Amino acid sequence: IPVRIFNNLKEGSVFIAHEIAGIIRQKQAEGKNCVLGLATGSSPKTVYAELVRLHREEGLSFKNVITFNLDEYYPITNDALQSYNRYMKEQLFNHVDINPANCHIPNGEWPKENIKKHCAEYDAMIEAAGGIDAQILGIGNNGHIGFNEPGSSRFSRTRLITLENSTRIANSFEFANISQVPRLAVTMGIDTIMKAKKIYLMAWGPMKAPVIQKAVEDEVTEQIPASLLQQHNDAVFVVDEMAAADLT
Ligand code: F6R
Repeated sequence: IPVRIFNNLKEGSVFIAHEIAGIIRQKQAEGKNCVLGLATGSSPKTVYAELVRLHREEGLSFKNVITFNLDEYYPITNDALQSYNRYMKEQLFNHVDINPANCHIPNGEWPKENIKKHCAEYDAMIEAAGGIDAQILGIGNNGHIGFNEPGSSRFSRTRLITLENSTRIANSFEFANISQVPRLAVTMGIDTIMKAKKIYLMAWGPMKAPVIQKAVEDEVTEQIPASLLQQHNDAVFVVDEMAAADLT
């Protein structure tokens, strides 16, 4: 799988943002919608900041953009500080000319009794939009993509999952304490992600070096979900020097 190594997070993030902007403009030129798969967490914040800058300073329009986010805690209210619905508004949607009706995120307020139906509808909406043109991903220290924890099936679709304790600890800084971190989440499945036409996985900093080494150089295994991207025909890992440190 190709790996692009940048000096730092800023340069890598600008690279990804410019790739995404290029795809948006290409689709605009063709008179088509551009379907983006989006991630949350700390890794993509600078990508979103650069996309906002491109909108404000270089006329990049999001009028033809349709988005689908990877995941959301469950349950969580949409206006909670830690909700990914709120995150996306604050980091991107509120600052660009995207149509709010085109922004899709799994909903932490879906009633539990029909959650399977909502998850199936989410996959169906992605297909109805024509599939994801470009998907951005972060990576968990345990190799998760979206919230597809180790052991997730290659053929999984959008569904309710149980978070690993290591993931809850990694994300606990966003919450008052660990007991406040939801135990469940809704995530796009591995198969949902693998259907994206183009995938950018980003990783910054020394903490991600061991899992990047495993995902890129070790065998393809559902135990390291990101390693499954080795089987995608247009996926690239975009990392900084520190996250690349363990690559041979
Ligand atoms: C978030 C997501 C997760 C994160 C991963 C890394 O939407 O899908 O897979 O990308 O947990 O999180 P950060 O970027 O905070 O290190």
